Amino acid sequence: MAERFDGKVVLVTGAGSGIGRASAQRFYAEGANVFLVDINAEGLADTMVQMPDSTRVHSMVADISLPEVCHATVTKTVEAFGQLDVLCNIAGILLTGRIEDITPEAWQRILQVNLTSVFFLCQAAVPQLAKTRGNIINMASTAALTGQAYSSPYGVTKAGVAMLTKSLSMELAERGIRVNAVCPGAVNTPLAATANFPQDATPRLIDKLISFYGFAEPAEIASLVAFIASDEARYMSGSVIPIDGAQTAG
Ligand SMILES: NC(=O)c1ccc[n+]([C@@H]2O[C@H](COP(=O)([O-])OP(=O)(O)OC[C@H]3O[C@@H](n4cnc5c(N)ncnc54)[C@H](O)[C@@H]3O)[C@@H](O)[C@H]2O)c1
Repeated sequence: MAERFDGKVVLVTGAGSGIGRASAQRFYAEGANVFLVDINAEGLADTMVQMPDSTRVHSMVADISLPEVCHATVTKTVEAFGQLDVLCNIAGILLTGRIEDITPEAWQRILQVNLTSVFFLCQAAVPQLAKTRGNIINMASTAALTGQAYSSPYGVTKAGVAMLTKSLSMELAERGIRVNAVCPGAVNTPLAATANFPQDATPRLIDKLISFYGFAEPAEIASLVAFIASDEARYMSGSVIPIDGAQTAG
C-alpha cells in the first residue's frame, strides 16, 4: 500500500529524543527518507534502532545553534537524498527560573537554540523547498500563546517562532512553500522533566501549565506533525496550532 510520505525527504532536528524522535519515527513508518539531526549522538542512535532500512535514514550529530551548521544540515540532506520536502524544526531547550536568576549566557543560549536556529534552518531550506513545493513545521509551544511564569526567555523564543512562522508563510506562499507551527502543552519528554520551578513558586501559576488531560505523549504530537506535513493539509499555511488539552482555551 502506498504511504503518505513515500519518496519524500524529511529533515528533523531534535530527532534524538521526545517529540523529534516520535515525529522522525512516524515519517519513517509512513515511507519517508529521514535525515535526523541532534546534538546528542546516543539519542540519535536510539532513534535509529527502530529504522531498519538504512537506505532511508541518515543522521548528523550537530549543534544547530550555529547558522553555518544549519546550512550544513540542509546541504547534507540534499547530498544524501537529492531533495528536501519537509523541514521539521523540533530541537529545543527549556529554561526555567525567576527573572533574577537568568544569566546573560543562558538567555543567549536559549535564543540561539530555540529561535536563531529555526530562522537559519528555514533560510537554508527555502531554495530546496521551492523545488519540491515542500513545507516547514516549527515546534512552538503554548508558551507562545499565553504568558507563562518562571520561563519568560523560553516563551519569548516560542513567540518568535510563531511570528516567524506567520511571516514566512506569507513571504513563501508564491513559491508554494507552506509554513506552520505546532504549540504543544505539556508533553511527556525529558525536556518537560527538566522544568525546575522556584521552590516558592505560586502554585496557581504552575497549575495553569497542566491540562485536565494531564500530559500528552510525543506520538500524539507526531500525529499532528505528520498530518500538517502531508498533502492532506494543502490549504494549511501560516497556522499556529495549539495541541494542549484545552490548556489555553479559556
Ligand atoms: N515537552 C513539552 O512539554 C513541550 C511542550 C511544548 C513545546 N515543546 C517543544 O518541543 C520541542 C521538542 O522538545 P521535547 O519535549 O521533545 O524535548 P527533548 O529534550 O526530549 O528533545 C529535544 C531534543 O533537542 C536536542 N537539542 C537540544 N539542543 C540542541 C542543539 N543545540 N542542536 C541540536 N539538537 C539539540 C536535544 O538533544 C534533544 O534530543 C522543543 O522545541 C520544545 O520546546 C515541548
